[in-house]
Amino acid sequence: MNRRTFLQAALAAPLPLAAQTAESRAPRNIRITGVEVIVTNPEQSPMGNYVLVKIVTNQPGLIGWGDATCTGSDLAVAKMLEEHLAPGLIGQNPLQSEMLWKRIFYLPYYRSGSVHMSAVSGVDMALWDIKGKVAGLPVYELLGGKVRDSLLTYWSTGGRDFKQVEDGVRRFMSEGYKVVKVQVSAPGMEGGYAVPPTEKQRAAIQAAYEKGMPPDEVWEPESYVRILPRLFEHLRKTLGEDIGLLHDVHERITANQAVALAKTLEPYRLFFLEDLLPPENLDTFRLIRQQASTPLAMGEVYVGAWEGHSLVTEHLIDYVRHDLAHCGGITTGKKVAIAAEPYGILTAWHGPGNISPITHFANCHVSLSVPNFGIQEESRGWGPKVREVFSDFPAVKDGYVTIGDKPGLGVEVNESAARKYPYVRRLRPAIRRQDGTPWPY
Ligand code: CO
Repeated sequence: MNRRTFLQAALAAPLPLAAQTAESRAPRNIRITGVEVIVTNPEQSPMGNYVLVKIVTNQPGLIGWGDATCTGSDLAVAKMLEEHLAPGLIGQNPLQSEMLWKRIFYLPYYRSGSVHMSAVSGVDMALWDIKGKVAGLPVYELLGGKVRDSLLTYWSTGGRDFKQVEDGVRRFMSEGYKVVKVQVSAPGMEGGYAVPPTEKQRAAIQAAYEKGMPPDEVWEPESYVRILPRLFEHLRKTLGEDIGLLHDVHERITANQAVALAKTLEPYRLFFLEDLLPPENLDTFRLIRQQASTPLAMGEVYVGAWEGHSLVTEHLIDYVRHDLAHCGGITTGKKVAIAAEPYGILTAWHGPGNISPITHFANCHVSLSVPNFGIQEESRGWGPKVREVFSDFPAVKDGYVTIGDKPGLGVEVNESAARKYPYVRRLRPAIRRQDGTPWPY
């Protein structure tokens, strides 16, 4: 289903060119005349629904694109935008991005949460895109300019055994990567986070998709926390000390296992250990910090600058990892980075393939402009149909990401291509323990 709303206001129609005057083009006279939402899934893939926001103005040709993608709630975000936020934007000056952020944050009264905040994030990015286009400058210039020319990056490899993981790391090292994220299957488990499933699990996932149901996945954490230190021992023995290695726990262990794991992994000097615990268990980070020096990263499911703020002010983590498509966009990203800087905490914005290239550009603009940048996760392997929909992609070379210097965010959407590829329902797995207890991600 393609969704499209075009809200027409009294002052909607762009001024005809003949009527354009210096006065009508003045920044103070720019107005938002429409907000359109497109939900597209170019590759028809399980995690590939993108919720795109287009903000239209009364200036001919002046539009902004944002990304409000929230995997697992895609259509809810689209409806939030169309029905509840867009009417509050019509007639407003798009250059007042800070004011408009607050305006649409308080608009629903029952605020925050991943649906609302993904919608706010999409609008925020589109407003920064417009701001850059009006200024004739890339967004990073408006955020303080480049602190560096390129961004250290990593990508992920997962295997069912140590040798598969080792081969994956070697492949990325041969492409120039300095840091690689490594994931391995837990013995006895059919699936796992970011690892290839067994044939049996693959068939179960496919059957669930065909029924439009969430796939079932059984997960027991104990064998996983036992095998993980052995993976890092193997990788350090075979690959040496120079390659940066990081790992994402994806919140799949208990609080006590998290403390033990962070301690046990110390000798292998990880780049960072990510998402050790759910945001519901932030207090446990205090226990971990007192006992282990393994660098910690946290934040991809946060929905605002306020979430996990005490992890920063108590210096309980080393990397803030907000997802700019869920936490409030570029405006929030810059604020989180500024709040973390006095503590020496670095940024590592979430950059998976299930957010659109627009967020990847937003990530890069903030990452380029903050002094306390750590690393930027950057997706790779965008398929041909995604490349048909989006005009540009951040470039990865020798383990670093760069973007161009076009005004705004630097990426446009081919709308007719986007509208060809409808939303598909592909639910995330429902993970449970062997006894049936629902379990985190
Ligand atoms: Co993660």
